[in-house]
Amino acid sequence: MIEVTNLSKSYGSTQALRGVSFRVESGEIIGLLGPNGAGKTTMMRVLTGYLQPDEGQVTVDGLDVLTDTLEVQKRIGYLPENAPLYPELSVQAYLKMIANLRQIPAADQPACLSEAVRATALTDHLTRPIGELSRGYRQRVGLAQAILHQPKLLICDEPTASLDPTQIVEVRRLIRRLARHSTVILSTHILSEVEATCDRVIILLNGEVKADARLADLSATTDAVLVLAEGAPDATKDLKALAGAENVEAYPTPDGHQYRVRGAGGVDLRPAIYELAHTRSWPLRELRRDVRTLETVFNELTTQVRRTSADTGEMKAGRRGSDQNPSASHLSERR
Ligand SMILES: Nc1ncnc2c1ncn2[C@@H]1O[C@H](COP(=O)(O)OP(=O)(O)O)[C@@H](O)[C@H]1O
Ligand SMILES: [Mg+2]
Repeated sequence: MIEVTNLSKSYGSTQALRGVSFRVESGEIIGLLGPNGAGKTTMMRVLTGYLQPDEGQVTVDGLDVLTDTLEVQKRIGYLPENAPLYPELSVQAYLKMIANLRQIPAADQPACLSEAVRATALTDHLTRPIGELSRGYRQRVGLAQAILHQPKLLICDEPTASLDPTQIVEVRRLIRRLARHSTVILSTHILSEVEATCDRVIILLNGEVKADARLADLSATTDAVLVLAEGAPDATKDLKALAGAENVEAYPTPDGHQYRVRGAGGVDLRPAIYELAHTRSWPLRELRRDVRTLETVFNELTTQVRRTSADTGEMKAGRRGSDQNPSASHLSERR
């Protein structure tokens, strides 16, 4: 449905996208996850043909967004970050106006309108001025306009931002329902949003794709974590040589050295690691299994970015002060 190849976009000296590539299959619900400033909105504006990239290619449903922009836009429903709604118009008048703007034939308009209104549960609010609706209902109107022309692809930029918890649940449920008939890509800076709504996550940091994984695969991956006491020899090489070890990461911790070892195909490497520790007489302090969650992956990635950007004196991505928000479930740029 979507194929993005080596996309780059700069605003002056700010590089918002740096060589982004990914594919989206028909029927998927994709979460584009990243802190503020990661490049999510830029990505979505390029996808929808509203912004020209400096480099790279984007096709939607086999059509080139740059050359077949109008045809592509017919296939896309777009809920922008700040949907421009007309507060004085009634829901019905607004949707009618959008139907005309999209050049939906007059004969098809009643069916398109009633379907969009039904899908977003706005039937009882058709005559209300948009300005009098709650944020949650306004977001439904935004979604109704996005699906009015029955697009194959729905693109939502931070659809639950600034909604209250009840409205968030409703809008997520609505998006999942809409996804039965179309492919959905939504952006968010909230981890739990991806977990609640999406099949797959693409993590964008500093304009680069840092991870692209199906959520089911992510939670099926188990790592073995071992901690060796202070003064132990470096175990990285031996761990890497272990049969079935796919990846080994080492972190110094206050009370020793921690290693995270990923077994190929989800295999539990703890027995083999225990054996190795015994043979080498390592001062083993801890050996446990750790299921990788989206939060684990994200925290590792942002830590790496923070480490790298600390070298250049920049701080482009990171968690809000951990004392205020230890859960890391809300990501924000540190300025
Ligand atoms: N119109 C613009 N002019 C200049 N810089 C911009 C513009 N839009 C976005 N940027 C910058 O590009 C980067 C990516 O922004 P954006 O795509 O809005 O990220 P996100 O949606 O993930 O918060 C940020 O550093 C942002 O400040
Ligand atoms: Mg944005």
